[in-house]
Amino acid sequence: MSGIVLYCRPGFEGECASEAASQLSPESAGGHIRAIPGAAQVQLFYPEMPQARHAHEQSWWGGWIFARQWFVQTDTVSGLAVDDRAMPLARALATAQQRVSSLFFETPDREDTKVLAPLCRALEKPVVSELKKIGGWDEQSLWRGHVCMTGSTDALVGISRVDNSASWPGGIPRLKFPREAPSRSTLKLEEALMTFLTERERKNLLQPGMRAVDLGAAPGGWTWQLVRRHIHVIAVDNGAMDAKLLDSGLVEHVRADGFRFQPDAPVDWLVCDMVEQPIRIARLVAQWFAQGWCRRAIFNLKLPMKKRYAEVQRCLGEVENAVSAAGKRARVRCKQLYHDREEVTAYLEPQ
Ligand SMILES: C[S@@+](CC[C@H](N)C(=O)[O-])C[C@H]1O[C@@H](n2cnc3c(N)ncnc32)[C@H](O)[C@@H]1O
Repeated sequence: MSGIVLYCRPGFEGECASEAASQLSPESAGGHIRAIPGAAQVQLFYPEMPQARHAHEQSWWGGWIFARQWFVQTDTVSGLAVDDRAMPLARALATAQQRVSSLFFETPDREDTKVLAPLCRALEKPVVSELKKIGGWDEQSLWRGHVCMTGSTDALVGISRVDNSASWPGGIPRLKFPREAPSRSTLKLEEALMTFLTERERKNLLQPGMRAVDLGAAPGGWTWQLVRRHIHVIAVDNGAMDAKLLDSGLVEHVRADGFRFQPDAPVDWLVCDMVEQPIRIARLVAQWFAQGWCRRAIFNLKLPMKKRYAEVQRCLGEVENAVSAAGKRARVRCKQLYHDREEVTAYLEPQ
């Protein structure tokens, strides 16, 4: 059996499996899903490899919420000799019969696999070199190779479409916390901008002089991301904002309830990180968009409840319905980012 490997945040295997069932329904192709709590990955098994490959190519990566990264698993390697790992891994990759233009060494995001990081780094170059020798490499290929080390001598290997998967190994962008930022939450918005916008969109849609509202802004990590791009921000929060951020001259701090605040004029961006029931946030963001108060929005949905996948779907459905009832066209995407905890982040953009 071959299949698909999905990486997710540990503790969210159930959500990832429900999503996989709804997106791909492998059972209808004679396959099944395996989700082990705490594994930080979910595996889909199909009777034939072309079925897994077809499922991967047919499903749009941007539509996945709880999966951080994925690949078509084409082989399993176990019991590797510690002094000869590169060649067997390259040979296993070659069984996919698909040349690749890059290679990701990954591990599931668990405490017990953290020790494998140096090994992954050390193996990358030798495996690429072996792969080149046996004709498995092509700089022009639209496919990428994946080696998921599950232990020091065991791995799952496979391939993914470069344009239909995450751009970072394991779906984890390595972001450095900027020392001047007032809170670690800043990394959430930075990752959201990297995930939902292309480089060109980041340049065009985040221009100096634009205007934004940040609901639930204190102490200012999200506002900081906008201010560093010279965007004017109305920061709405009853809590205190970072003093240096206020000194930038680009921030107006409004001590108010984010559910009551209305802007005097439409803004380019609404961002919202208020700790509130997700459905209330979804309705609020939909209202902002429907009324034309903002052109785009990035918002975080906190998920303290049990049925988290169902709740996210309910919230996104609510946004879509409210927007279309207002006669507007928009697309909403949502992802559990690496820097998200019991939460997901969504992006609403006009169509
Ligand atoms: C997770 S923190 C925001 C962190 C912020 N994004 C950052 O990067 O520093 C949530 C904030 O939402 C604010 N908040 C919660 N409910 C609110 C409401 N109804 N109106 C305005 N702010 C609210 C809280 O005061 C708190 O500062």
